[in-house]
Amino acid sequence: MTKSIAVLSGDGIGPEVMQEALKVLDKLEKITGVTVERTFADVGGIAIDNHGKALPESTVATCEASDAILFGSVGGPQWEKLPGPEQPERGALLPLRKHFNLYANLRPAIVFRGLAGASPLKAEIIGDELNVLVVRELTGGLYFGKKERQTDWASDTMVYTRMEIERIAHIAFQAARMRGKKLCSIDKANVLTSMVFWREVVTEVSQQYPDVSLSHMYVDNAAMQLVRNPRQFDVILAENMFGDILSDEASMIAGSLGMLPSASLAGAPEPGKGAFGLFEPSGGSAPDIAGQGIANPIAQILSLGLLFQYGFGMPEVYGRVHNAVQQVLTRGFRTRDIQTEGTTLVDTARMGELITSAL
Ligand code: IPM
Ligand code: MN
Repeated sequence: MTKSIAVLSGDGIGPEVMQEALKVLDKLEKITGVTVERTFADVGGIAIDNHGKALPESTVATCEASDAILFGSVGGPQWEKLPGPEQPERGALLPLRKHFNLYANLRPAIVFRGLAGASPLKAEIIGDELNVLVVRELTGGLYFGKKERQTDWASDTMVYTRMEIERIAHIAFQAARMRGKKLCSIDKANVLTSMVFWREVVTEVSQQYPDVSLSHMYVDNAAMQLVRNPRQFDVILAENMFGDILSDEASMIAGSLGMLPSASLAGAPEPGKGAFGLFEPSGGSAPDIAGQGIANPIAQILSLGLLFQYGFGMPEVYGRVHNAVQQVLTRGFRTRDIQTEGTTLVDTARMGELITSAL
């Protein structure tokens, strides 16, 4: 089998951690027998420098011609003075999401065995099994509703259609069905009309998933419950803005942003086939540590695992990558961000090599 991917490394630590993910990809090609053709394209700040905009047409064309997008991270202080919509994050990420209809954002917050100490929460709160999946609606709500700016006022609009809520709810219920069978839908139905509608539609969709137990929670309470007792959650479903906030919180609870991958999909992944998607670390471009060889490549490597799982319909490959990462951690190897007493410090490249050989 031959597949093709667009490799968009971006800025900051993006290129360094991508290099390690590509080592892992070489190995996965041998293991799986799948040939993965790679086309590299500029995105974010580097694209502004080389082509005058964060998302050049040529990069979009490369993505269109590929089966999946492996994304690094974008942004840095050099580009912060540009008007907001032209900056790497807003100028590249949001249009990519909209253009490819990547409405389903899956952000797992997992604590690997032995890393509970990296969480800012007490070890007894984390236990040894924290595994929460945040399913975030990614192409609607406040981010994409009508915006207005006048001299003395400005507004953003939270709009959700039935179709938009139904399709993300299906993704979340299907994900819950494959895991702990518990779905908590987040809203603010005590205040916002769009969120009353959200709750109604999610409840309707739930009738098709009698095997999944559904609960509802206001977003403010959810923010509190996540630090009080994160293990009560299995799958969390949230609209775009609430999901943005809660997924940052969930990932911090898991210890290090450098550990967590994410998938943004254009549809429900079909068994054996997957769905078109963009796969990227949850963390940012970390310009402060770029170029020093100290960044943690694990999130980028796990994002590659998710690309096989959801992009190619090969969930077992994600499992192999996850186990290889766990094995290297169990043997005591750590990058600086997750280093604790008694562990062995390694740099970005060494971590990549260790995971590759563990595979
Ligand atoms: C994310 C980021 C983006 C978002 C920003 C960079 C536009 O925070 O992917 O979570 O808000 O969606
Ligand atoms: Mn965010």
